[in-house]
Amino acid sequence: MSALSFSKISASLNAVLAAIGLVTVAALTTPDMTGQTRLVLEALLAGIWTAYSLQLIETLTMQRTRDVQGRTLEIAVDVLAVLVPLAAFFFARGRDQSLYCAIWLLKPLRGSTFFRLLGRVLTKEARNLIGVTSIFGIVLFGAALAAYIIERDVQPDKFGSIPLAMWWAVVTLSTTGYGDEIPQSFAGRILAGLVMMSGIGIFALWAGILATGFYEEVRRQDFVRNWQLVAAVPLFQKLGSGALIEIVRALRPRIVPAGGIICRKGETGDQMYFIVEGRVSVATPNPVELGSGSFFGEMALISGEPRSATVSAATEVSLLSLYSSDFQMLSSSSPEIADIIRKTALERRGTTPKG
Ligand code: CMP
Repeated sequence: MSALSFSKISASLNAVLAAIGLVTVAALTTPDMTGQTRLVLEALLAGIWTAYSLQLIETLTMQRTRDVQGRTLEIAVDVLAVLVPLAAFFFARGRDQSLYCAIWLLKPLRGSTFFRLLGRVLTKEARNLIGVTSIFGIVLFGAALAAYIIERDVQPDKFGSIPLAMWWAVVTLSTTGYGDEIPQSFAGRILAGLVMMSGIGIFALWAGILATGFYEEVRRQDFVRNWQLVAAVPLFQKLGSGALIEIVRALRPRIVPAGGIICRKGETGDQMYFIVEGRVSVATPNPVELGSGSFFGEMALISGEPRSATVSAATEVSLLSLYSSDFQMLSSSSPEIADIIRKTALERRGTTPKG
């Protein structure tokens, strides 16, 4: 496999290789394995290492327009994935050599948009997360202190100092409850109940902050992407900024592969489509092709009648769909666009026989 053909390796194949490598590393730690099986597994690791070396060559030689941060992470992960196992091969002894291939755990980070998203959410929510973490620390210390005071005479081996009681506090506050340390006194049990309830609250806060952060970030990204798509449809260039923001929120992007059916004749239709890129074919008696900037599906949406024709993707097509409720919003915020759509529907009705 040449370095260039390896460049076509998809992110998922890359992750599959890492997964196979890590399972192999795990298998190699089992003690009663025959020498032959061990050899096969080590050969498998060598194969994956070779593939990753080719990927490193590709990463270092290809010119990319990608952002510097993403590229630095990519290069760092690729270099470590090759160099760490190589160094282990020369310098580490015996069975532990293969353990260094566990560095491939980093491979899914490479080029992953999810980890970048996570990074942005953590940065944006850092203040709130630090706040909740501080509450966690305060409750933790308070719980350990109270448990020490209440239980030190009853169980000096387990609660005889604050550091000892801290373990109980962590296990209880996180609601893990190993059960290796249990308060014996009545007051101690009441304390345990309170600590558990606080733990549930604190974890709910963490989860809430992260969920909101992810939701907002994904919405922001969707908004930016939709904005770019909407800008590509000339019809929307007539919209004022307020109406444009509303329409960007209302439109749903969709990609249909070449040959895919978008709507069928006779179906009820509650949405219309704007073509951002690509072409669709309308199966009227004299078939029509519509391209970028055009729209279709407006006839059923306006009249409430079944779809007048089947529309399919002539090429891969990028669409924005608008539901009838949002069309009402467009009609009131931008009557001139709604008029163009209505007029076009009437003209098309004149050239499309019913039934
Ligand atoms: P609708 O009837 O909802 O679903 C099929 C769509 O094909 C229709 O809306 C129009 O948008 C489109 N269509 C129908 N006839 C024509 C035509 N003659 N020229 C262009 N588009 C058409």
